[in-house]
Amino acid sequence: MKDQASTLRLLSALRAQGLAEERIEKMSQQHTGAYAVAVTGGKGGVGKSNVAVNLALALAALGRRITLLDADLALANADVLCGLNLRCHLGHVLAGERALEDVVAEVAPNVRLIPGGSGLDELADLGRAQVARLLAELRAMEARSDYMVVDTPAGIASNVIGLLCAANEVVIVTTPEPTAVVDAYATLKVLNKHAPDKPVWIVVNDTVGVGDAERIYRQLRAASDQFLRHRVELLGGVPHDPELVEAVCAQTPVVDYAPESPSSRAFRLIAKRLDQRRAACLFDRAPDFWQSFIERAGG
Ligand SMILES: Nc1ncnc2c1ncn2[C@@H]1O[C@H](COP(=O)(O)OP(=O)(O)OP(=O)(O)O)[C@@H](O)[C@H]1O
Ligand SMILES: [Mg+2]
Repeated sequence: MKDQASTLRLLSALRAQGLAEERIEKMSQQHTGAYAVAVTGGKGGVGKSNVAVNLALALAALGRRITLLDADLALANADVLCGLNLRCHLGHVLAGERALEDVVAEVAPNVRLIPGGSGLDELADLGRAQVARLLAELRAMEARSDYMVVDTPAGIASNVIGLLCAANEVVIVTTPEPTAVVDAYATLKVLNKHAPDKPVWIVVNDTVGVGDAERIYRQLRAASDQFLRHRVELLGGVPHDPELVEAVCAQTPVVDYAPESPSSRAFRLIAKRLDQRRAACLFDRAPDFWQSFIERAGG
């Protein structure tokens, strides 16, 4: 069951925006799954995990319920950023060693973390019955969330692209460094080949100058307009912030550690913008992240 209170809040916000009753009615009937947002970026260390974790918490502060999926197989660290050190992941669930609820951690009120671990890759190789059982559990969890925020690994391996294709929206994180921008474009190019209509947001992290985010976004947009014609939009910039570094060391997400720091403010703005998009997109389709992921993986 969806949380009725948050659905009602969403509907009244839409009414306040002047949307026609019949469209709202249609939306409320279609709205069945979590809105999946995959956070990625071609280059390692550009801030994907910090964006995913802080975005999840900022969305929760807006009254949404979040499932955070840590899909970084080799270097899982969303849990560490949240002050947890999880030993078990979806792989243990698939091996029958743990139940799903044993590996899921509550990182904050209304934010649950699923450590994917090797389990995400294994989902593709298992027999259908086993997959179906876990899939049913994951979907039940998804149905109790408004968002699924997916922290992906760096790079453009097929498992990463599979996660991006299964999501409703893709957030590509880059820094102003040319190498990061080139890698962000490479991600966009590969995604364009597999899912040319996937909406893509750009987050420019670790900016120092006022116009950095807009400038880097324009570069990516110009390249996309010329060679890919893929739809990209600027979700926002996150300034370089020493308090974010302190927060990482303190294993506390910066929006909790230093709520008034520049990066925390930026994460809240990003969450708001994304939440507005979700309200507008709920008309279009009932998302089903897990179904698409498994189908793409060939399970
Ligand atoms: N806005 C920022 N201001 C200052 N430092 C930052 C900022 N964003 C990221 N960093 C630094 O970059 C480090 C890496 O961030 P994070 O782990 O989020 O990157 P990642 O892209 O998830 O890395 P990986 O590719 O290893 O998964 C942080 O621990 C922090 O030290
Ligand atoms: Mg990471």
